[in-house]
Amino acid sequence: MTFDKTNWVWMNGDVVPWNGATVHVSAHALHYGSGVFEGMRCYETENGPAVFRMDRHLERLFASAEWYGIRIPYSNDELADAVCETIRRNDFTSCYVRPICYFGSSGLALNPRQCPIEVTILAWPWGAYLGEESVERGVRVTVASWTKFHSRMLPTVAKGCGGYMNSMLAAREAADNGFDEALLLDDSGNIAEGSGENLFLVRDGRLLTNDESSSILLGITRESVIEIARDLGYEVEIRMLSLDDLRSADEAFFTGTAVEVTPIRELDGNLIGVGKRGPVTERMQRAFAAATSGRDKRYATWLHLLTPNFSWARPGRARARPPTPH
Ligand SMILES: Cc1ncc(COP(=O)(O)O)c(C=O)c1O
Repeated sequence: MTFDKTNWVWMNGDVVPWNGATVHVSAHALHYGSGVFEGMRCYETENGPAVFRMDRHLERLFASAEWYGIRIPYSNDELADAVCETIRRNDFTSCYVRPICYFGSSGLALNPRQCPIEVTILAWPWGAYLGEESVERGVRVTVASWTKFHSRMLPTVAKGCGGYMNSMLAAREAADNGFDEALLLDDSGNIAEGSGENLFLVRDGRLLTNDESSSILLGITRESVIEIARDLGYEVEIRMLSLDDLRSADEAFFTGTAVEVTPIRELDGNLIGVGKRGPVTERMQRAFAAATSGRDKRYATWLHLLTPNFSWARPGRARARPPTPH
């Protein structure tokens, strides 16, 4: 993935060209990771582009900011409008969206009290995070030698910039050792999560996943998948997961905004189940895609439409689709 430098960025209330969206090298966040961010996806639906679960993502952004004393100088509605504006200005029909709020430049004392709070929103088209073939083939995962930080160290439920140094170490280590993704354990040796994903196991037709007591970020994809799975009639058990649980699972998959629902086929060279995408994982992928694309009307309230009167037949669009009334 490379950035297209002709794109537009929303920065502190203005939409600016990509190259103009700059931060000073003395920014507090650059030195100490003192920021919080979100990752959302915008999907194509028959009613135009729509951001999946924007309300939950913005709620988590404000909650993350609260942990670090970052007073976001915009309301929830203003940020929702700003996200839509960013996507529209770039004329994207589907993309990844990255709002970030951070302490800017005004001194480098650790207490950022005097630093301005800056808010930026980036958007770019981003395909399958772990590669297009991961969606069907599944990924090969390794247990990281790094432990997931505990909530006594940093709030694990907040999406804080600095915390991602932990994920970065694990992801780099996995890649250096020839794996697709890292799995981090918590401080008691149970499974926490992937470097940027939550984990689900399938055993005897039931789904299992862990929660914040295992030092995970409570993913919005995770909560959506739990709801969809229960609607499909699956039992979902939420409890601590051990490596043995994973090794003996019939199937396993990651969830996250970036990876959506991605099968795991191997753990440190050992096959999970039969070593390929299992039927429950595939069903969850399909059901999740039906929700994000608006095809499953039960989840229509999870979609924040960009433009109420959007038409796919708009001049200049590559594909013309008939507008569907909602
Ligand atoms: C560490 C970590 N865990 C889990 C997730 C999944 O969260 P979500 O489904 O809200 O994207 C992410 C992605 O943001 C993450 O970075």
